[in-house]
Amino acid sequence: MARFTLPRDLYHGKGAMEALKHFEGKRAMVCVGGGSMKRFGFLDRAVSYLKEAGMEVQLFEGIESDPSVETVMKGAEAMLQFKPDWIVAMGGGSPIDAAKAMWIKYEYPDITFEDMCKVFGIPPLRRKARFCAISSTSGTATEVTAFSIITDYSKGIKYPIADFEITPDVAIVDPELAETMPKKLVAHTGMDAMTHAIEAYVSTAHCDYTDPLALHAIKMIQRDLVGSYNGDMVKRDAMHNAQCLAGMAFSNALLGIVHSMAHKTGAAFADHGAHIIHGAANAMYLPKVIAFNAKNAEAAARYGEIADFMHLGGATLDEKIRLLIAYLRKMNDDLNIPHGIKFYGADSYPCAQGFVPEAVFLERLSDIARNAIGDACTGSNPRQPSQEEMERLLKCCYYDAEVDF
Ligand SMILES: NC(=O)c1ccc[n+]([C@@H]2O[C@H](COP(=O)([O-])OP(=O)(O)OC[C@H]3O[C@@H](n4cnc5c(N)ncnc54)[C@H](O)[C@@H]3O)[C@@H](O)[C@H]2O)c1
Ligand SMILES: [Zn+2]
Repeated sequence: MARFTLPRDLYHGKGAMEALKHFEGKRAMVCVGGGSMKRFGFLDRAVSYLKEAGMEVQLFEGIESDPSVETVMKGAEAMLQFKPDWIVAMGGGSPIDAAKAMWIKYEYPDITFEDMCKVFGIPPLRRKARFCAISSTSGTATEVTAFSIITDYSKGIKYPIADFEITPDVAIVDPELAETMPKKLVAHTGMDAMTHAIEAYVSTAHCDYTDPLALHAIKMIQRDLVGSYNGDMVKRDAMHNAQCLAGMAFSNALLGIVHSMAHKTGAAFADHGAHIIHGAANAMYLPKVIAFNAKNAEAAARYGEIADFMHLGGATLDEKIRLLIAYLRKMNDDLNIPHGIKFYGADSYPCAQGFVPEAVFLERLSDIARNAIGDACTGSNPRQPSQEEMERLLKCCYYDAEVDF
C-alpha cells in the first residue's frame, strides 16, 4: 500500500493570504524568520487578517536560516505557554521547518529530538493545534511537504524529520511574497525545486500520482527559472507554483542522494566561515548524481523521459542523458552557481578557490560519505552507493570531475 498526502486546503494566487481571515480558532502563534516578512509588510498583514478572524495572536520571531535544535526547543516552550490552536508559519523553508518541529514538541513535550528524527515515527498531531504554512521562497515547498530539516550544530549535520503528520493542514502559495526575493535566493531555491522534481521522478517510490506533478514542475522550471532570476515577475509568480508542484511530488515520492549529500555537506564546513546553501549544493551535485544513477537502467530510462519532456533532443539514451546534464550545468552558469565545492565562495558565487580548503574536505570526506549514506533520502535513490562510491562521488562534486563509475 502506498500513501499520497497533501494539505487539506491550498490557497494560491495573488492575495491568497486573505484566506487567514476565515480561519476558525482562539489563538494563533505566528512563526517567522529574521525580518524579511516584517520589512515587506507581510507579517503585519497576516496578523491583522488573523485578528479579523477573531484570534489572539502572538509572534515567535527571529528563526534563523538552517534552524537549530535549540531554536525548535525555545519555540515549543513559547507555544506551551501561549497554547495556540493555530500555528501559522511564514517565510522561507527555515522558519516553516522550525515551526513544524516546534509543533511536534508542543503536542508531545516529552519527545526528544532523536525521537522526532525516526522516519515516519511521529505520533498523531492536531490534538492541540492545526498548522498553516505561507511560503515566501520558491523552492523548498515545505508548505506542502511531510518534511522538516533541522540542523544539529554540535554535529554539523542536518537531520530531516519525515512524517505525513507534519504535512500542513493549510498551504498558502501567494506569489506576492516571492516577488521580494533577492536574485541569489531565486537562483538557489529555484534549483532546489528542480532537484526535487528530478529526484522525485527517478525515485524508487515514484508512482502515477507523483509523476505528472514532477514532470510539469520540471517543464515550468525550465521555462521560468532563469527569466525569474533576471527579474521577470510573471515568471517569478509561475515559479512559486512550479516549486509547490515539485513539492507535492517529492513529499510523496521522496528524494535521492543529491539531497543526502546536500544535507551532510551543508553545515560540515561551518567552522570555515560559511554554509554550502541547500539549493546551491543541490545545483552542483545534481548533474553528478544523474551520471552516477544513469548506470541503473531504469533510472537512465527515466532521465531520458525527462530529457524528451524538456525537448532537449538526442538520438540515443546516452545522448539524451548527456544533454540533460549539459542543460542543468548551463542553468547553473546562467544563475551564477559554481559547478563544484572547490569553486564555491563564501558568498556562494563561483571563484578560483572556495571557502572549503581541499585538505579539510579530504580529511572529512569519509565521515561525510558515511553520514550521506545514512541520510533518510538515500533509501529511495535508484542506485545504492557503497562507501567507496559515495566518497568518489563527493570528490567529483568537490573538483567538478566527470562521474564515469
Ligand atoms: N521541508 C522541506 O521539505 C525542505 C525541502 C528543501 C529544503 N529545506 C530546508 O529549507 C531551508 C532553506 O529554506 P529557503 O531556501 O526557503 O531559505 P530560508 O528560509 O533559509 O531563507 C533564506 C533567507 O531569505 C530571506 N527571505 C525569505 N523569503 C524572502 C523574500 N520573499 N524576500 C526577501 N527575503 C526573503 C530570509 O529572511 C533568509 O534570510 C534549509 O534549511 C533546507 O535544508 C526543507
Ligand atoms: Zn531541497
